[in-house]
Order: sequence, then C-alpha cells, then structure tokens
Amino acid sequence: MIEVRQVSRRFGSQLAVDNVSLTIERGTITVLVGTSGSGKSTLLRIINRLIEPTTGTVLINGQDTSGLSGEELRRGIGYAIQGHGLFPHWTVARNIGTVPSLLGWDQGRIARRVDELLRLFDLDPALYAEKLPHQLSGGQQQRVGVARALAAEPAVLLMDEPFGALDPIIRAKAQEDLLALQRRLGITVVLVTHDMEEAMLLGNRIGVMDGGKLLQYATPTEILTHPAPGFVERLIGGPDRSLRLLSLLRVADSVQPGTAEGKPVQENATLRDALSELLWARVQALPVTAADGTPRGRITLPAILDLAGADAHRVEDSPA
Ligand SMILES: Nc1ncnc2c1ncn2[C@@H]1O[C@H](COP(=O)(O)OP(=O)(O)OP(=O)(O)O)[C@@H](O)[C@H]1O
Ligand SMILES: [Mg+2]
Repeated sequence: MIEVRQVSRRFGSQLAVDNVSLTIERGTITVLVGTSGSGKSTLLRIINRLIEPTTGTVLINGQDTSGLSGEELRRGIGYAIQGHGLFPHWTVARNIGTVPSLLGWDQGRIARRVDELLRLFDLDPALYAEKLPHQLSGGQQQRVGVARALAAEPAVLLMDEPFGALDPIIRAKAQEDLLALQRRLGITVVLVTHDMEEAMLLGNRIGVMDGGKLLQYATPTEILTHPAPGFVERLIGGPDRSLRLLSLLRVADSVQPGTAEGKPVQENATLRDALSELLWARVQALPVTAADGTPRGRITLPAILDLAGADAHRVEDSPA
C-alpha cells in the first residue's frame, strides 16, 4: 500500500504539486489523469523519490520512504518513463538487464530473466534480444520499456504516459496487455495519462489533477456518476458521457425478472454492448443468460436509457 500524505512540491515560485493526499491499495491500478503541466509526472516521481517533496510524506507498506535511500527504494519500484526511454546504443537484452546488473545479479540470472521477460511480452528472444531499439517498432519498444521496468521483480510499477506515442490499434493492445500482466503478477500500478478514456479503461481508481491539486480520487463509476463540480465535470462531460457510463456497468446490474424473445445477452456483458444488441435487433427487450447459458431474466431498452438518462439529468440539475 502506498500512502501519499499532504505532499507538495515547489519549483521556484511554482507549486507543481499542491497538498496532495491519496492512498493506493496493493494490487490495484491507479491512474493519474490531467492536462499538461498539472503535476502528474512530478507526483509519480515523488513516489520513487526521483524528486523529493518540499513538504509531506510518502509511506510504502507503512514505512516512511524518507528513511530509505533512493536506490533502496527504487529497487522495489519499477519505472517506465514518458516515451520509452531505452538506451539507443544498447541491445534490447542489455536494456532490460539494466537494473538487475546495477543490483549485481550474476550474468546467468540476468540472462534467464531477460529471456523470461521477452517471452512474457511476446518477443522471441532469438529474434529480439540482440537488436537495437531503433530496429523495433514503436509498440515493441514500448514493451521492452515495460519489461525493463519489471526486470528486478518490483512490487510497484510506475508508468508515465506509457502508451502516448502508440497508434490507436497498438495502443489498445498494449492496454489489454497491461491489464492481463497486472492480474497475472498482482503488482501495484500507478499510471499517468492525459487521456480520460484510458483512465476509465485501466484504473481501479482515478486521480484527476489540475494545477498541482488532486481534484477527485475515486472509481471510474463514481467519477462518471458524481464528478467533482467544475474541472472534473467538464473533463468527463459531453455526449460521450452516457455511453462511457454504460460501458462501465454490467447487464447483471440492470437485469429484470421475466424473459424475452431473441438472441440472449450475457450477464457479464456491458450495458453498452446490450444497448447495441437491442438497437441492432430493433426490440425492447432481450433475454439474459449466465456464461453457461442459464437463464437470468431480461434486459430492456427503457431500463438502460433510464440509467444513462437519469444520470445525465442529475448533472444538469446540479448547481454550476
Ligand atoms: N525540474 C523542474 N524544474 C522546474 N519546474 C518543473 C520541473 N519539473 C516540472 N516542473 C513544472 O511543474 C509543473 C508540473 O510538471 P509535471 O511534469 O509534473 O506535469 P505533467 O502533469 O506531468 O505534464 P505533462 O502531461 O505535460 O507531462 C509544470 O509547470 C512544470 O513546468
Ligand atoms: Mg508528465
């Protein structure tokens, strides 16, 4: 668990991070989102003490990090930097082995770890280990950057705009890969992005930053249903909002008793998918089943529209 307590960082007269407190649970993905210059990277780097806070404390598993040496701390924290940050004249294998070699692992152990990570990231070691970064595609370089951050088996992975430079298709794949990797390794991830869509997709919790302040720290559903007035509300506003909410909610959340004619919708599908099915089939209701085909009830168009619409209505009613 990472606890950031009343942390501020000043650069000259500028407060880059302004009195931020947040708790990050072990084994979760927290996404920091905000506009350029809002203090995301600074906050991330305060966690591994690449930057010292001006005031405030950071605790990891209850231990105040100011009592640890930066090197000691960074051993347990992987860091994938903005851009991929690979050393251009080093091979892929040497890039991935950077931290283990600094830690004095023996050559055999480093080689085994590099091999294992390349396979984990779907890069055949025979083909890629000895290549230079510029001989790889953008998506491959990005994976090598993450592999390098994971090399010393850290419990915490900090990622600064890891997918910013990728084209949309590769980016979607990289996001899926990260989710799968996080589930598999059970690591704690803190990821920075300026893309709310990405934050909604990846985050168990999202911290919205503006002008150095943490304006809201909540689950994606909470942010969509109860955005903090002002900046957060504007950030997630607009016509996409209802659809975003529907893509976070499951059919199981809105299933009704009874049955209906037509192609069944699975209870673990999103309401957005269910809405598409209903519109495509031009019907008011479809049957809902469990993954094994057991009937669960039905999902209706009015129930979905109600959820999306009722929510939009609440925001219009709230004071500006
Ligand atoms: N080393 C530094 N010296 C002086 N000012 C800095 C330094 N690092 C960051 N800042 C300033 O602090 C503010 C926050 O910067 P930070 O890099 O944390 O923003 P960010 O949210 O990561 O932005 P971006 O999305 O553009 O990466 C900016 O105004 C920046 O100019
Ligand atoms: Mg940044």
